[in-house]
Amino acid sequence: MITIAPSLLSADWMNLKQDLDAFDGIQDIWFHLDIMDSHFVPNLTFGHALVEQIGKYSKNSPHKLDAHFMVTNPDFYLETFKNYNIHNFTFHWETVIHHDRFINYAKQFYPSVGISLNPSTSVDLIPDYLLKEVDLVLLMSVNPGFSGQKYIASTLEKLEHLNNRKKKLNAKFTIQVDGGVNDKNVKDLINKGATNFVAGNYIFSKARNEFKQLVESLRS
Ligand code: DX5
Ligand code: ZN
Repeated sequence: MITIAPSLLSADWMNLKQDLDAFDGIQDIWFHLDIMDSHFVPNLTFGHALVEQIGKYSKNSPHKLDAHFMVTNPDFYLETFKNYNIHNFTFHWETVIHHDRFINYAKQFYPSVGISLNPSTSVDLIPDYLLKEVDLVLLMSVNPGFSGQKYIASTLEKLEHLNNRKKKLNAKFTIQVDGGVNDKNVKDLINKGATNFVAGNYIFSKARNEFKQLVESLRS
């Protein structure tokens, strides 16, 4: 099953609830929250007040919350975000020194813990034993910081390599791709083993009544 994670960074913030409601009745949706701190990436997005509200909304929704922390010190956020109904907590490999400890700490608070890799960060930095521990690996297919950027085509080789390692290890993690995903590049990404796609601009640049069809276009 292919999960689509609409990136709320591209949503209509003055009418956010209407945008969220537009995914009613669609299966396998994660709401993707791009949390940026203006240090790790040159953009500042949203924090506690808003995530708390979205968390309350999601308690009455079948759609899970997927938080992608593009922050210098993700350990600052682990406990303070734990009551917002976040299903998956993804941190950037580049921002943590003690990865094993971080993952185990995060697992106390979140059902799913993910590692994100910048485009220039090699998959081979993650040792086998951590690939068996983690729930999700996010391959960034743009340099993190902004929505609406151009997809980096070399993501495909990186994905293939990651998926080969996954098969060899018989590991269970989900492979997510984030950045510039659209109906043109998604097919190859699915063929190479990704099953979870973040999509910002591709969905939210269109009208709300097209969201369902846009989600389906990424799955077919
Ligand atoms: C980029 C974010 C992405 C971004 C995706 O730093 O992590 O989630 O919002 O937006 P699109 O799909 O427009 O590239
Ligand atoms: Zn993201």
